Amino acid sequence: AKITFITTENKSIILEGTTGSLMQLAVDNSIPGIDGDCGGVCSCATCHVHVHPEHVEKTGEASEIETDMLELNDHYNEYSRLCCQIEINEKLDGVVLQVAESE
Ligand code: FES
Repeated sequence: AKITFITTENKSIILEGTTGSLMQLAVDNSIPGIDGDCGGVCSCATCHVHVHPEHVEKTGEASEIETDMLELNDHYNEYSRLCCQIEINEKLDGVVLQVAESE
């Protein structure tokens, strides 16, 4: 699937992913702002992204644990997701993710 990350500096980075989580894809490709400190277990929020408003049906909804974690973040909004909780599949093709500010 084709995945676009928009960095906090407004740079678009287009990646191709087939398996694993979006966090892993971002870390493997050194996307700035996606650190994945907890290794993808939903406990650090260093993989926070905002899904493009028109693409929420591609990613689905955040789980309760994920939302609890996200709500602690100053940059939380209705499009927030922890991208380690999103597995790459063909449905994601074309998705655009804005990397959230960390401070
Ligand atoms: Fe830690 Fe996603 S990598 S919450």
